[in-house]
Amino acid sequence: MKKLIFRILGGIVILIVALFVFVSFTWDKKFDAPMPDLKASKDSAIIARGKYLAFGPAHCATCHVSMDKIAEVDGGAIIPLSGGWELDIPPGTFRAPNLTPDMETGIGKFSDGQIARALRHAVKHDGSMLFPFMPFQEMSDDDVIALISFLRSQPAVKHEMKKTELKFLGKALMAFGVMKPDKPKTTPPKFMVPDTTAAYGSYLANTVANCVGCHTDRDLKTGKFIGKPLAGGFQMPADAFSEGYSFITPNLTPDIETGRIAKWDREQFINRFHSGRVYKTSPMPWGFFSRINDTELKALYAYLTSVQPVEKKIDKSVFLPGEKLPPAN
Ligand code: HEC
Ligand code: HEC
Repeated sequence: MKKLIFRILGGIVILIVALFVFVSFTWDKKFDAPMPDLKASKDSAIIARGKYLAFGPAHCATCHVSMDKIAEVDGGAIIPLSGGWELDIPPGTFRAPNLTPDMETGIGKFSDGQIARALRHAVKHDGSMLFPFMPFQEMSDDDVIALISFLRSQPAVKHEMKKTELKFLGKALMAFGVMKPDKPKTTPPKFMVPDTTAAYGSYLANTVANCVGCHTDRDLKTGKFIGKPLAGGFQMPADAFSEGYSFITPNLTPDIETGRIAKWDREQFINRFHSGRVYKTSPMPWGFFSRINDTELKALYAYLTSVQPVEKKIDKSVFLPGEKLPPAN
């Protein structure tokens, strides 16, 4: 009997050691996604579009500035994207890098193709995977060019960021191929002309501004989408930045009873965006979105009021410190 127990224990120890050895030798994978043939431009209108995206609908600056500057940038300050946001979660500690043209600590040495590949194929300049913080894979060629052109137009800021560090869970997800770089689901358009149509609104909501990423219910552990698109219900428990507040995203579909904006006319929708942040720690980048121009806000309204209504009652979307969230899903 004793012998058997020792054998079983011995077997378990060997398995655990084998798992650690396997993970530590195989997690550091390189991926070879194509580098899009897109070139940065010096044209001032193209640079202006990139800046508008980065400090408006695409909200790059919510993560690529130091954490003590985020509120200022949300409030309208324009500062170089010298990196800084850090998120410590079970798979690892993720750090948003310096995106100014500094040669040593920024993107100075990266080619346009490398930066375009990061956005479109979630592969970093060194071929490693970018964890899914940036769902911009289907952004148009012209908008990717605008962003790269803007990044290159910034002053070079020397700011050494520590690298992202994966923990055992993150490494295991890589080793077993559970996590792979996000790919475009459809062929990204060459360009999208900003207008007030639902088609352009869909491009904003699904690709540029990622409304769908927060306003769709997701599994809290895996991040997988489990609810109907834009029907809300995604729980955001209190975290290090929320000063004790928790949030549940409202239903944005046009269901007349349960859709948050179903009874709003276009004017009200636009005014709600212009007036910006109500809850200081809401994860929605309200300040950035308050700078979305009226053409694009009209497009968002046209799109959100055109999607399939989904009946999903979200009684409350803001929870004070200490208030309990209802059971998930
Ligand atoms: C939610 C936070 C967040 C937002 C928003 C965001 N980023 Fe990032 N970005 C990150 C993080 C975190 C990393 C590093 C991830 C990693 O190491 O796996 C990163 C990495 C990058 C890289 C990779 C650089 C390299 O090493 O190759 C580029 C380029 C980049 N971001 C550009 C952008 C642009 C352009 C935007 C806006 C269109 C943007 N990011 C919006 C968090 C963000
Ligand atoms: C990072 C997550 C996140 C993103 C991205 C996001 N939202 Fe939200 N949104 C929230 C949360 C959380 C709330 C509830 C708290 C609040 O009102 O700030 C909310 C609330 C709202 C409300 C209700 C506001 C009110 O006063 O009743 C509207 C409308 C809305 N979002 C629309 C959008 C649209 C349109 C987009 C894309 C352009 C978007 N959201 C992107 C998280 C997000």
